[in-house]
Amino acid sequence: MNNIAIVFWSATGNTEAMADAVKLGAQEAGAEVSIFTASDFSADMVADFDAIAFGCPAMGDEVLEEDEFQPMFDAVLPSLNGKKVALFGSYGWGDGQWMRDWQESCQNAGVSLACDCVIANDAPDDEAVAACKNLGAALV
Ligand SMILES: Cc1cc2nc3c(=O)[nH]c(=O)nc-3n(C[C@H](O)[C@H](O)[C@H](O)COP(=O)(O)O)c2cc1C
Repeated sequence: MNNIAIVFWSATGNTEAMADAVKLGAQEAGAEVSIFTASDFSADMVADFDAIAFGCPAMGDEVLEEDEFQPMFDAVLPSLNGKKVALFGSYGWGDGQWMRDWQESCQNAGVSLACDCVIANDAPDDEAVAACKNLGAALV
């Protein structure tokens, strides 16, 4: 059985709704899925999973959330080589720069992403929910 983790941070529920859709897509594709908030995940847990989807909204000025998500991700990143990894998140008024930067930081660390990143403007609409489900399935 494919063992997948979804690790997300969300203040107002938009990225959480995306995480729920990722979970559904992965489950429908036959995976065993565990879902964590950023503060409940750490580098020593990476080995338990075949694939991990990370979700974080654009915060600050086009950056990841800095108190919980970024420190967790920095700690986890060196352990991600060889894992299937995917990124998703919600944004507001920007143009997705935070996600382009996040993707680049993964590439610079030698982590290749299993599929295109999924971003949603505020709450995910039907199209974004479908894209999140596809992202979940791509990790299986
Ligand atoms: C403190 C703060 C900073 C934000 N910074 C950005 C930003 O730089 N670019 C952007 O597009 N949206 C920004 N947003 C909007 C959030 O990304 C957007 O509301 C998102 O849907 C929140 O996701 P969540 O419901 O998962 O917390 C910011 C929101 C807050 C509260």
